[in-house]
Amino acid sequence: MKEVRAKARELMKGFCRVCPVCDGRACAGEVPGMGGLGTASSFQDNVRALAEIKLNMRCLHQALEPDLSLSLLGFKLAMPVLAAPISGVSFNMGGGMPEEAYVLAKLTACAEAGTLGCTGDGVPDFIHESGFAAIKALDGRGIPFIKPWEDEELFAKLDKALAAGAKVVGMDVDAAGLVTLRKMGRPVSPKPAAKLVEVIRRTPAKFVIKGVMTPDEAKLCVDAGAAGIVVSNHGGRVLDGTPGTVRVLGEVAGAVRGQVAVLADGGVRSGTDVLKMLALGADAVLIGRPFSVAVLGGGKEGAAQYLEKIRQELVQAMVLTGTASAKEVQPTVFWNT
Ligand SMILES: Cc1cc2nc3c(=O)[nH]c(=O)nc-3n(C[C@H](O)[C@H](O)[C@H](O)COP(=O)(O)O)c2cc1C
Repeated sequence: MKEVRAKARELMKGFCRVCPVCDGRACAGEVPGMGGLGTASSFQDNVRALAEIKLNMRCLHQALEPDLSLSLLGFKLAMPVLAAPISGVSFNMGGGMPEEAYVLAKLTACAEAGTLGCTGDGVPDFIHESGFAAIKALDGRGIPFIKPWEDEELFAKLDKALAAGAKVVGMDVDAAGLVTLRKMGRPVSPKPAAKLVEVIRRTPAKFVIKGVMTPDEAKLCVDAGAAGIVVSNHGGRVLDGTPGTVRVLGEVAGAVRGQVAVLADGGVRSGTDVLKMLALGADAVLIGRPFSVAVLGGGKEGAAQYLEKIRQELVQAMVLTGTASAKEVQPTVFWNT
């Protein structure tokens, strides 16, 4: 990973410093870029809130070979870690790699490791087109996230995603606040409940809503027919001043657990971070920026190495907390609760 990170630092110069810990401090306000919006308090709190949680160490048990596998949204996964949708290599990452090669490398590494990568959307069109092409090449093993556009563009893109073979599709509703899109004159907007119902009903695939931060909106997603939610503040890129996602995860997951798949992202940097999110009720987590750094620095191999590092850390965290299965992580792993 050292070489991969060094190469990424060179290629991402001016866009990402590839810090020892990716915590949103050095890149505050750099949107476009890899940073968080404004003071980046939302991005920084994602990382800080996870670091504040402490774990109980337990070594007197039988959990020697923990089971990381799970079923999620119709996919069998070897581990509860997915690559988050991060798009825009040219304007967010320094353009060191064509968008198409980046997204294909990321999704292929995930597929080969038995998990899933997600793809993003934006302007120009080659962003979503590159994602759909990768999903097609991998026989539908990937989740495309489409922005909350006005009807015509939204429906056209959803149809294209399905035609590419996507079995699960998503909408990052929090992109309603993306300054980058507003600057480009492309309208995205919040969606009232009735619109969500209409969009989900007309889509013959499992539908995931990304950008849920409150229990009431999580329940609204269930009522609208969603198959999954992602507890996310878009990596702190849309609203300054939100709590770290892990602070709201327990309550949000508690409101809908068992009714939809619950995913979560924001500031996950290690296997112990993954375990913390699972213990708070997530079925699986998404990792964003560090994945992009790994792909830029090492292509498919870099992403594969990064995933393996996280997998090993998760195994270690599970063994040392006495956790036998990623499907049933108990809150007793938390110290002081
Ligand atoms: C440069 C950049 C581009 C992103 N593009 C998208 C996107 O196209 N679609 C989307 O749903 N989320 C997008 N996100 C948000 C990520 O999917 C994810 O929610 C966030 O990065 C997770 O936090 P982390 O990077 O701290 O792990 C983007 C984030 C970054 C940093």
